[in-house]
Amino acid sequence: MTTEAAAADAKDGKKKKRVVVTPPCPPGVSTGYLLLRGAVGAVVGVSMLETSCSVMQPTFLKEKPVLSGKFSLSVGKKLGVGELELPEDDEARDELLTGIEKEANRCIQNGVAFSAVTTTKEAAESLLGSTVATKPPLGVFNQMHMKTKPEDAVTLAHVDQWVLAIPPSLPYATAAALDKIVVERGNQNSDIACGKKSRKDAQITIKFHVTLKQPDAPVVEASTDNTIAETSTQILCQNKVRSPEGQRLVQAAAAQQQKAQEAATKETTTPTEEETPKDEEMVVNAWEVKGKIDYTKLVKEFGSQLLTEELLQKLQDVAKGRVPRLHRFLRRNMFFSHRDLHTLLDQMQQHDGTVYLYTGRGPSSDSMHLGHLIPFLFTRWLQQAFDCPLVIQMTDDEKFLFKGVYDEQDGDNLNHFANLTIENARDIIACGFDYDKTFLFSDLDYVGRMYPNIVRIWKAVTTNTVNGIFGFDGSSNIGKIAFPAIQAAPSFASSFPTVLQADHTSKRMCLIPCAIDQDPYFRMTRDVAHKLVAKPKSNEKPHGLNGKPALIHSKFFPPLQGATGKMSSSDTNSAIFLTDTPEEIERKIKEHAFSGGRETKKEQEELGANLEIDVSYQWLRFFLEDDELLDKIGKDYGSGSGEYWSTNKVKAKLIEVLQELVAEHQQRRAKITDEEVRKWMTERSLVG
Ligand code: TRP
Repeated sequence: MTTEAAAADAKDGKKKKRVVVTPPCPPGVSTGYLLLRGAVGAVVGVSMLETSCSVMQPTFLKEKPVLSGKFSLSVGKKLGVGELELPEDDEARDELLTGIEKEANRCIQNGVAFSAVTTTKEAAESLLGSTVATKPPLGVFNQMHMKTKPEDAVTLAHVDQWVLAIPPSLPYATAAALDKIVVERGNQNSDIACGKKSRKDAQITIKFHVTLKQPDAPVVEASTDNTIAETSTQILCQNKVRSPEGQRLVQAAAAQQQKAQEAATKETTTPTEEETPKDEEMVVNAWEVKGKIDYTKLVKEFGSQLLTEELLQKLQDVAKGRVPRLHRFLRRNMFFSHRDLHTLLDQMQQHDGTVYLYTGRGPSSDSMHLGHLIPFLFTRWLQQAFDCPLVIQMTDDEKFLFKGVYDEQDGDNLNHFANLTIENARDIIACGFDYDKTFLFSDLDYVGRMYPNIVRIWKAVTTNTVNGIFGFDGSSNIGKIAFPAIQAAPSFASSFPTVLQADHTSKRMCLIPCAIDQDPYFRMTRDVAHKLVAKPKSNEKPHGLNGKPALIHSKFFPPLQGATGKMSSSDTNSAIFLTDTPEEIERKIKEHAFSGGRETKKEQEELGANLEIDVSYQWLRFFLEDDELLDKIGKDYGSGSGEYWSTNKVKAKLIEVLQELVAEHQQRRAKITDEEVRKWMTERSLVG
């Protein structure tokens, strides 16, 4: 029994036997439901005629802790009934869900209007056009309407992308009452089932939650004049993608197919390399991190070096007197790999090597999460340890090129990414850098100063090289292909004529702390570096690294759901955000942190937890400063005895640590004014 049926029955004033009264659907949830149903159709490009939809499953209708619901939409008997073929691999499915989520949120942002009419089922059918009426099942009506009589009342809502039958009173006036819709992922949540679990029909299940902008927005009254524009119903009766997100996915699918075809032709002509199926799932490149990461193998593949005890000792010697000891990320091997760090430290020890640090961030969401903090916390420590200048690149240009959108009506969203730069800058500044030695810049703003070096890099790198490294092809926009040079440029001191008082004769060496997925950029950079520094005069010492930047690489910070891959901002439950409240932190860790503990108390006491896969323990390794305590927690939990014997105890400790860390961050961040951000982002000399 569903809310909708209950509402219809209540209106009829009669109670059928099968009726079990469920709580009424919270208004925000039904608004989200309407938008998402429209979004599914618009993204997949499926006609209203081909689909049938379950009303929201009552067990999933929740108000607390968040407004949430779940429904399934059957989009036909076979795969690819709409314009967009439903994908078969998990990653593409995930992307489709993201597309649907984006489409629904686009409607919110655009303030899409809801209109509704109440009429009879018969009239509704003729209103929708004869084609609709002759071809059930109709996406418009739910299963319950199949059984109702022609003269029974029905309310139709028209939500831009969709027309559908809904409960008699509409929950909200406009989509603007909602703040955001989130499509939930992972087990038991949203899913696209086709060709799997031996399902033949293609079914999309959406589990979602919403947040409200106007909790008490007025409820809309449905009108009784029969007006639903016929043109829109005609459009809705075609198998046609009706949204920008859907079009993007269609294009991506076409490109993928073309690539696959090309690869297939290649395969028949060139012998395949020896295959190692076991490692196949690991993918690490500048755009994608997935599968179980084998860091030793990665270092081998990338050609970087593992950090050694000896090297750490040398680092400690160089930093002596400025920091009490090695950062916990080094003590615990979170930063684990490098390029040319030996040489860099040697030069520094010989007192004739000056250095600067370079790191960056692609501003892709307004709330950063804990994973984003890792490189910055470490960079701050390095700045203290070396007492040197630091430049931080905000690649708003990159994020626009890769994730930006163009909309016929609203234009593009380049400014959105420029604004994210400022928001993210606040979080970065709150990490505690030294103002006198730190320059933060937005590419959109500063790129002109680096332009001579960018042009030199463009000249030195071929399209084939870039495509090979980053997987671009002829269908990629030209900005993507040009971008790697822009991330490369800050590796050269001469890109900062004022900030570092440098030109091409500068001997100042660059060290880049970054996550290992950024390495491809800098491999490319290092290959052409010699062309960007001036040849030394005969009596002069050359640049200590022949112009190349040195690197120090971190591992990935694991998502809450499990220690593979990296955390994503699009799945709110996979991450702790720097804006989360203490309650949210507690809830997420309790509900979502993947546990390596055993099923029963008895087993836990006998076997102890598997620390490798236990996210709470792994996160403590990143954030708990106290070595002794960490050691004790590991021993207790790993053996199932002592104070920290169970998952609950370990989670409680983690919650405490993170609540404190996040609260302190928020306090620091709150004090940073726009004026302050502007100062950090003003070009000024950081040296002598
Ligand atoms: N491309 C990086 C990202 O998407 C941002 C970045 C630019 C960066 N320059 C960097 C990261 C240097 C590390 C080091 O987040």
